Amino acid sequence: MTRILFVTSEVFPLVKTGGLADVSASLPEALCKLGLDCQILLPGYPAALKAAREMGSRRKTRFRYGQYDVALWHTRLPGTAVSLWLVDCPALFDRCGDSPYQNEEGEDWWDNAHRFHLFGRIGAMLALGQLGLSWQPDIVHCNDWQSGLVPVFLADAQHAPKIVFTIHNLAYQGLFSQETFRALGLPDYLWRFEFLEFHEQLSFMKGGLVFSDAITTVSPSYADEIQTPWFGYGLDGLLRHRAGHLTGILNGIDTRAWDPEQDTWLDDHYGPGNLANKAQCKAKLKQELGLAAGGAPLFGFVGRLVEQKGLDWLLAVLRPLLEQGCQFALLGAGQNHYQERLRELAQEWPRQLSLTLGYNEGLAHRITAGSDIFLMPSRFEPCGLNQMYSLRYGTLPVVHGVGGLNDTVFDPCEERQNKANGFVFREPTPDAFLAAIQRALIAKANVKTWRRLQDNAMAADYSWKYRAKEYAALYQNLLAGDSRLHAD
Ligand code: ADP
Ligand code: GLC
Repeated sequence: MTRILFVTSEVFPLVKTGGLADVSASLPEALCKLGLDCQILLPGYPAALKAAREMGSRRKTRFRYGQYDVALWHTRLPGTAVSLWLVDCPALFDRCGDSPYQNEEGEDWWDNAHRFHLFGRIGAMLALGQLGLSWQPDIVHCNDWQSGLVPVFLADAQHAPKIVFTIHNLAYQGLFSQETFRALGLPDYLWRFEFLEFHEQLSFMKGGLVFSDAITTVSPSYADEIQTPWFGYGLDGLLRHRAGHLTGILNGIDTRAWDPEQDTWLDDHYGPGNLANKAQCKAKLKQELGLAAGGAPLFGFVGRLVEQKGLDWLLAVLRPLLEQGCQFALLGAGQNHYQERLRELAQEWPRQLSLTLGYNEGLAHRITAGSDIFLMPSRFEPCGLNQMYSLRYGTLPVVHGVGGLNDTVFDPCEERQNKANGFVFREPTPDAFLAAIQRALIAKANVKTWRRLQDNAMAADYSWKYRAKEYAALYQNLLAGDSRLHAD
């Protein structure tokens, strides 16, 4: 049985800032269902250790690493049979607040480089069987910059497992100063542009990109995009250089948690071919949010309030649509200036625009079910999960045609009738976004057209079933000694 160590800094439901947490829970579970032995490695944040203790889990080993007391716990991801290892290092991970990266004022922890350096070091030791455990992986699967040093530490080791590195978001690279590079005690030769140096800074992300056997990212379109200067954040040259080892595998979603037929956050359920209760979901959502009753189109948005998610474009289209009588259910947390501008609009249009700031799992489900149209005007989107949730709930998305949005949402103007499931704008402007929304409103006015699009959206398979198999095939190729995925 192939053993995989899945190294991640977030996993749902223990710690989450975005889709990485969802994927880090649902992909390992899907891999285990395929018969692989996939075990997760996560920093021992307080919430994770608390859950482990509540499950009666035990500390497996305890040792000193440099100045740090470190222990390793072995437990299970709550609600699953998936094994979870926790790196318990109180000096680095016993921190207040819900964020794994920031203090309660929203500033990055000053010692993030030290935190994820130690995490990477322990990951490498576990992978090499140096911790006296009875389990050792054949494959190490790292995710984003927080695990970027694992491949570096494994680079010169004998009998090292094969390494897969997945890019979930190239915009966050884990950049630190040269002083930090020295303070971490990394060998001098790594301070070269071929290795960890990136414009006079230490880049954790480069560690993953340079030293892994295979690089994946979370959609085929994003795999192409990051090889261009516009989306590459300065790493496009390196990614073009490694193109033969880079591939895009679309994310799946947790189809148990996100299922309109049995969603525990909803009072009323519906499904493909039986949409009657969707109207109930809409009516109740409007009531919950204090929006005026009636038949006005209701738009939903759930996401981080940051530039990536196209907040400027969203803000640009809200007023004309409000004046047209449309309603909005918005949920998110993020940058203050976006929160402020949205708050002003919510105060000005209380019966048409509802804004909920903060993280709210239940409301995210109710917005996905109760809205007519879901908005995702992301500037870039490596994969995106919300458009897949909304498709599954028959809430048709309007999206910018980038990354995973381009690979999952198909516009009737561009696609066959039996595949179209939403609306895509390609020109990166608010006018193009507004035009796509107007097209959606016209389509919505035709009950038959809308229903056909909903049927297409709800019929598709967004699960990990087939997508996890692509990872399994990649692992097998690597173990068979084939790290070249395709010709450059
Ligand atoms: P990203 O990882 O870039 O934030 P994704 O679409 O991959 O984007 O994943 C975001 C995940 O976080 C989804 O599961 C989404 O529902 C959830 N989410 C984002 N913001 C909120 C919020 N304010 N409340 C509840 N869930 C949220
Ligand atoms: C990142 C991306 C998002 C993706 C998620 C999970 O946070 O921004 O597009 O869906 O990772 O891979």
